[in-house]
Amino acid sequence: MKTRYDIAIIGGGVIGLALARALCAHSLSLAIVDASARIPPATAAAAGMLAPSFEKALGGDALYDLSAKSLAMWPSFAAALEQETGVDIDYRSDGVLGVALDAAGARSLESASEAMAQRGAAVAMLSGEEARALEPALSGAVTAAMHAPRDAQVDPVKLLAALRLSLGKRGAALIDDYVAAVEAGQQGWRLSLAGGGDLVADQIVIATGAATDLVIDGAPRPPVFPVKGEAFSVAAPAGASLSRVIRGPGAYICPKAGGRIVIGATEDRKRDDLTVSAAAIEALRSGAGDIVPALKSAKETARWAGLRPATPDGAPILGPDPRGGGAWAALGHHRNGILLAPASAAALAGEILGIVTDIDLSAFRPGRFG
Ligand code: GLY
Repeated sequence: MKTRYDIAIIGGGVIGLALARALCAHSLSLAIVDASARIPPATAAAAGMLAPSFEKALGGDALYDLSAKSLAMWPSFAAALEQETGVDIDYRSDGVLGVALDAAGARSLESASEAMAQRGAAVAMLSGEEARALEPALSGAVTAAMHAPRDAQVDPVKLLAALRLSLGKRGAALIDDYVAAVEAGQQGWRLSLAGGGDLVADQIVIATGAATDLVIDGAPRPPVFPVKGEAFSVAAPAGASLSRVIRGPGAYICPKAGGRIVIGATEDRKRDDLTVSAAAIEALRSGAGDIVPALKSAKETARWAGLRPATPDGAPILGPDPRGGGAWAALGHHRNGILLAPASAAALAGEILGIVTDIDLSAFRPGRFG
C-alpha cells in the first residue's frame, strides 16, 4: 500500500467521501480512512431527507443559507454521481409535507411557513383536505400542512455506495481501518492505523462524525457530541402509497424505492450506544400511525440506530483547524449531513485548494468555540 498522500481524510461518512470526491477533481493523491466497520457513520442510519424548510431551528440563518444552497446543488450532484457510477441513489425531488394534528400544531406550521417564505423558500400552507388530495393515505385527523415542494430525499446507503465507487474510479485510496493516533512531524501528518502500519499526508481533514476518541497531536478535538437516533423501516402496506416525505409531531415517514418506508427518529443526547429499544420503535410507530393510519400494522423490515454528530450551537464545523499546519475540520453536520454534503464539500475543497467559491463558511469556523 502506498503510504504518502497529499491529503488524508479521516472519516468515511457522507461528509468525508463527498469532500474527497470534490478534491479528486484536482489531481491530488488522496487517502480516506474509513472506520465504518467499527463505528458506523451517521450517514448509514440517516433517512436521507433533504429538507431545509423543516430543519431550520438549528444553527440559525447561516445554516439555513448553506442548506438552501446545498439543496440547489443536489440535482446536479445526484445526476453526476449516478452517471459516473451507474448506482441509482433514489434521489427524489417530490417535496416534503409537514402535517399538524391539532390547532397548536397548525399555528406552529403557519409561523414556520411565514419565516421560510421571508427567506425566499417556496413553501405553502394547505388545509387538511388539500394535504389529503396530495397524499390520500393521510389520516382524517390531519388539520393543516406545510408543503415544501422543492425539498427532496435520497437513499443514504445507496449514496455511500455510489460515493465509494466514484472514489475508487477516481484513484483515491479507500482504507478500511481505524486511525489510532495522529501526530505532526517533519514529513507531514503521521496517521497510525489500528490494523497496523501508518501513512503520512501533507494535509489532514478530520471528518470523524460523532466518534469522539481520536486524539490529534495531543490536542482536544472540536466539540462534537453524539445525539442518538433510532429508526425503523416497514414494507409499504396496501393503503399507504406515499409520494413524498411526510413529517408529523411524532415521526417522519420517508417512502423509498421498492416499497420500503423509513420511519424515524428519536433524539437522545445522553446516549452514545447503538442499541434499539422496543419502546422507541413503538413510539415512532404510534407517531407514524397517527399521520398515516395504514402504518399502524405495517410489517417491520428492519430497525437500527445511529449517532448524529452535534455541536454546541447546532451548526457544522468547517475550515482550518486552529492547530494549523494543514489540518482541517469537516464536522458536526448533526441532522443535516446528507443535505449539506454537496455545499460543505465544494466550499471546503475550495478553501483547501485556495480556490474562491460563492459559499461563505465564516459562520462555521472551528475556532468559534474558543
Ligand atoms: N434529519 C433527520 C434526523 O436527523 O433524524
